[in-house]
Amino acid sequence: MITLGIETSCDETSCAILKGKNEILSNIVSSSLEKHQAYGGVVPEIASRHCLEAIDWVYRSAVKKAGVRENEIELIAVTRGPGLIGSLLVGVSFAKALSFGWKIPIVGVNHLEAHLDANFIEERKPKKSFVGLIVSGGHTALVHHERGCYRLLGETVDDAVGEAYDKVAKILGLGYPGGPAIDRLAAIGDSSAVKFTKPKIDRKLNFSFSGIKTAVLYYVEKNKPLPEQAVKDLCASFQSACVEWLVEKAMAACVHTGCKIIVTGGGVTANSYLRKRLAEDAGKRKIKVYIPPLKYTTDNAAMIARNGMEKFCGEGTKLDGEASALDMAADPNLGIGV
Ligand code: KG4
Ligand code: ZN
Repeated sequence: MITLGIETSCDETSCAILKGKNEILSNIVSSSLEKHQAYGGVVPEIASRHCLEAIDWVYRSAVKKAGVRENEIELIAVTRGPGLIGSLLVGVSFAKALSFGWKIPIVGVNHLEAHLDANFIEERKPKKSFVGLIVSGGHTALVHHERGCYRLLGETVDDAVGEAYDKVAKILGLGYPGGPAIDRLAAIGDSSAVKFTKPKIDRKLNFSFSGIKTAVLYYVEKNKPLPEQAVKDLCASFQSACVEWLVEKAMAACVHTGCKIIVTGGGVTANSYLRKRLAEDAGKRKIKVYIPPLKYTTDNAAMIARNGMEKFCGEGTKLDGEASALDMAADPNLGIGV
């Protein structure tokens, strides 16, 4: 059973070939990251143009690297949302054309669900219900997963945590994306240097990250020019505050649902301090925590293939599931558990 995964929800264009449920034969990712750097964030028009230019060679490279013939591909899984509409349309149209031409089924995938499934490319998926923590550039949410269904427990009321990293990096002149740069500097900074107050939010499983971003801006304005060490200390303090809020809420969601399993996903799970703190806190509470392998944390088509394959075949690997219709639409606001 060979599945082709296609991901074009934002600034990455990716195609992957999955054999069975767990064997990734190839996972090619082309990023337009460099083209956005001058703007300090993703420019949708640049992102979608890049997807259009890259999709054909990324697809061909994935097939070649996997060593499969095109006629061995039996299923196509493609991200249908959420994301940037221009980018989504490239992948969805490409996938539909292949599906129509080859007469094979196509499955539309929710990008956020797929981020959580990035954990189960190399590991077995738990049968019990779990809390999902999604932390990316566009989303920050807690969900409850039970028997294949998701229920939203809480989400950010303003910025996503990855967005806050990117905006703080822009304020500090660290380039885009901000996460990796802040992560690196924070490791050699003093996290007790700057104190940030916790945001006050009505619902306890919701998040807010725009206040801390503004607090960083005021701090920089007040203390400029910041010496090199002060930038590292600020990064460490910012990172520590964000990560502690995320860990605290993930643990609160476990208490709320009675779950003893947390599954995390999204670009921010690449963060070294988040990985460490989640493992520590979960360990203390005897909670099993899944954090994706680094190579599957940011946007990739391997996780899309994995999610689409299970959606179509369920527990087994038989091609007897329900395909999406060819008039399936890309949905930039597709939710999870709503
Ligand atoms: O999941 P992703 O690739 O794209 C979306 O679906 O949004 O996540 C990208 C986000 C960016 O905001 C980026 O700054 C953040 O993930 N990120 C990190 C790290 N690596 C990437 N944030 C914190 N620490 C990192 N090491
Ligand atoms: Zn993503």
